[in-house]
Amino acid sequence: MLRIGIIGTGGMGNHHASEFSKMKDVKVVACCDISEQRRKAFAEKWKVPAVYADYHEMLEKEDLDGVAVVTVDDMHAPISIAAIEKGIPVLCEKPMATNLSDAKRMLEAAKKKGVINMINFSYRSSSGLQAASKVVSQGKIGNLKHVESSYLQSWLVSRSWGDWRTSEGWLWRLSTKHGSMGALGDIGVHIYDLTSFLCGDFGQIYCKLKTFDKGVPENRIGEYVLDANDSFVSAVIFKNGALGTITASRWATGQINSLRARVYGDKGAIEIDLDRAYDEYRICVGQKNIDKAVWKTVKCPPTSNNYQRFIKAIKTGRNDPSDFENGVKIQAYLEASFESDRLGRWVNIEI
Ligand SMILES: NC(=O)c1ccc[n+]([C@@H]2O[C@H](COP(=O)([O-])OP(=O)(O)OC[C@H]3O[C@@H](n4cnc5c(N)ncnc54)[C@H](O)[C@@H]3O)[C@@H](O)[C@H]2O)c1
Repeated sequence: MLRIGIIGTGGMGNHHASEFSKMKDVKVVACCDISEQRRKAFAEKWKVPAVYADYHEMLEKEDLDGVAVVTVDDMHAPISIAAIEKGIPVLCEKPMATNLSDAKRMLEAAKKKGVINMINFSYRSSSGLQAASKVVSQGKIGNLKHVESSYLQSWLVSRSWGDWRTSEGWLWRLSTKHGSMGALGDIGVHIYDLTSFLCGDFGQIYCKLKTFDKGVPENRIGEYVLDANDSFVSAVIFKNGALGTITASRWATGQINSLRARVYGDKGAIEIDLDRAYDEYRICVGQKNIDKAVWKTVKCPPTSNNYQRFIKAIKTGRNDPSDFENGVKIQAYLEASFESDRLGRWVNIEI
């Protein structure tokens, strides 16, 4: 039986518990949150025997085979490093950290200690994305020329996930002081990972971030100043020479949680649309199909999800491809995006 601890028992912490609870040889034995109400409710719901307010104490007292770091973003680095120093494998939520140097420190710590590490880029659980990534890397759509991808949400307009004005879980995401990197760090990170997993590494970025007026007096609600970006548009030049646009927004009225990527090569094209299905991609290949723009939908067999792959990494002692090394790369894309927005020009990716 593998013994897992979960640090951060909010919305996503509950999702981790739900996924781990489906695995026969895994048990969530400890949880931690600074909110007494949330940690108690979580422990009760998931029948977790050991409950902590302080993660140091939990890491000290519990004998854990792995830990999931599911707190607000600016605690990912200190908590992950503390776990790694105790030799405990870490599944850390995205974004890996709030800056590139912290992400690099996390990677160095994990390498030094030889500890299994993974970032939870959720959409890698899509069997359609996994299969499409293989199709592209095998050259079936040829040399990539043009890419467009987007991650669209509408929680600043819709109430389908509750009212952001009254929920801490949404308010910290709007406030840089509370460790948020805005839409770029929250959902941009997913679409950057998905796009680079599908199309290869980015070479240069030109990014424009935007924080819109939310119609709130003095632009604050209690302790939360609403200053984080809530929409961005990035142009990307990939190392393989392709050109792409990547966008994300919390203002995409009419979209709940919509991820899409379209990739065009000189021998074909591929499309992922996770709104339509997680287990399929669409492809246009073969001269006759290309001439008539005929697309075929390909259903893909199930693949392991991220939680299963984290457990597999612990058991085998081999990191999943969504490891801290990949996390540092995505963090460098975030950093370059902020720099580009600040300077108003293209920025080379430097890791
Ligand atoms: N992979 C995904 O698809 C996905 C989806 C949603 C959220 N997330 C990530 O998961 C993390 C949590 O998001 P959420 O939606 O659950 O937010 P949330 O606000 O619902 O939960 C965060 C929890 O962390 C707790 N916390 C803060 N500091 C702490 C500390 N020092 N020690 C212990 N607990 C602490 C808070 O009290 C809160 O309960 C974020 O980093 C977010 O980006 C990832």
